[in-house]
Amino acid sequence: MSDRPTLSTSDRESTRDPYTSLAALRDQAPLSRVVVDGLPVWLVTRYDEAVRILSDPRMSNDGLRYAGPEAHTVAWTGVTTAGVQAHLLRVDPPDHTRLRRLVSKVFTPRRVAALEPRIRTTARELIAALPAGDARADLLAAYAGPLPVEVIAELFGVPTPRLGEFRYWTDRYAGASESEGELQAEASRRLATILGDLIRRRREELADATLDVEHEGTLLDGLIKARDHDDRLDERELITMAFLLLATGYETTVNLIANGLLVLMSAPGRLARLVADPGLVPVAIEEILRVESPVKTVTPRYATEDIQVGDALIAAGDAVLVHHGAVNRDPAKFADADVYDLQHSGSHLAFGHGVHYCLGAPLARLEARVALEELLAARPHMELAVPVDIIEWRHSRIIRGVRALPVRLGR
Ligand code: HEM
Repeated sequence: MSDRPTLSTSDRESTRDPYTSLAALRDQAPLSRVVVDGLPVWLVTRYDEAVRILSDPRMSNDGLRYAGPEAHTVAWTGVTTAGVQAHLLRVDPPDHTRLRRLVSKVFTPRRVAALEPRIRTTARELIAALPAGDARADLLAAYAGPLPVEVIAELFGVPTPRLGEFRYWTDRYAGASESEGELQAEASRRLATILGDLIRRRREELADATLDVEHEGTLLDGLIKARDHDDRLDERELITMAFLLLATGYETTVNLIANGLLVLMSAPGRLARLVADPGLVPVAIEEILRVESPVKTVTPRYATEDIQVGDALIAAGDAVLVHHGAVNRDPAKFADADVYDLQHSGSHLAFGHGVHYCLGAPLARLEARVALEELLAARPHMELAVPVDIIEWRHSRIIRGVRALPVRLGR
């Protein structure tokens, strides 16, 4: 293992610019044998190989079954779901098909679209609380951070008296650094308790009710009532699912919004173009997802048998990890791949590919669109308050995101 390069996620240079060293790996071979967070993996940095791996039924998400306990440390489960391992991202068809079908009945495009007015109101409230005039503000703490947590609270129907607690622990859960595993575990227990209480209460209240789960009630109400023939989610599955939606839906969206603002402010003319033509915001969001993918790497796949890819033999049980940020900058797929350019057609893999394709993509896109539309309309002249090279990035294997986004709000 000693001769294998390590993919660092914790030094300043590789967090500021992970892309240069990834490009070197991509140039060398279709798959690279590297060590990530102490585990040897095959790293995928090319677009076509990523599509192939993510749609290959011989690649499993079930590390416990095909690899072993070392594949199941907290760092490697990606999301800690309060000790519950079997969630959507960790299971294969047919179990995955069953869970995904149930949640898809409820988490529909229609339900997501209905959230738009609420997202807009929240965005406007946050903007109204920003300092007036050409003041300095941290848009991560003041805008990109708080917006998604309010949306999730609304989606779940978290009752007003528990909102403060919910916000607090969601923030601790997401904000805990790698060295604060205990804090994250505590936060996940607290959140599981809040969600468990909520689910039990709503279950009782809805016991005799009939609900059109596609658009009546909250998302949680829908999950409680959703049926697929005789099948439904039991209480443990409900808590796991709610927790997963929280864990996957919060930080990712925070960083899509923050990365988006950063990308738009880090070269002249980008922001002004969207201010002049807000109709371009959805295209810009796709390009932001490509060029600064908020999820770098997430769930490893495990080979269920020996698989040959080019010169590489992936042995049964080996872990394969797609680097979404790297594959989205593959020059074989995108011309001038490192450059933000609205001509890139949007066929990025920031939301993954195949059966595990992001369930929350429509919600993430909606939140980012509304967040950008509202802020650009209110603060069209904002600019970075520090040179872009000084911006500090988070040390994380999973998330690509800044620690703060200092801006001058403009007049
Ligand atoms: C899956 C990225 C927002 C819920 C995924 C995957 C990626 C991803 C790359 C696939 C993981 C894999 O194949 O191993 C993102 C990004 C987001 C975002 C970049 C925002 C910019 C959301 C939101 C929600 C959500 C808002 C829900 C509220 C999920 C769920 C899965 C998933 C439940 C697992 C689906 C399955 O295994 O079938 N996401 N996500 N995501 N995402 Fe997202």
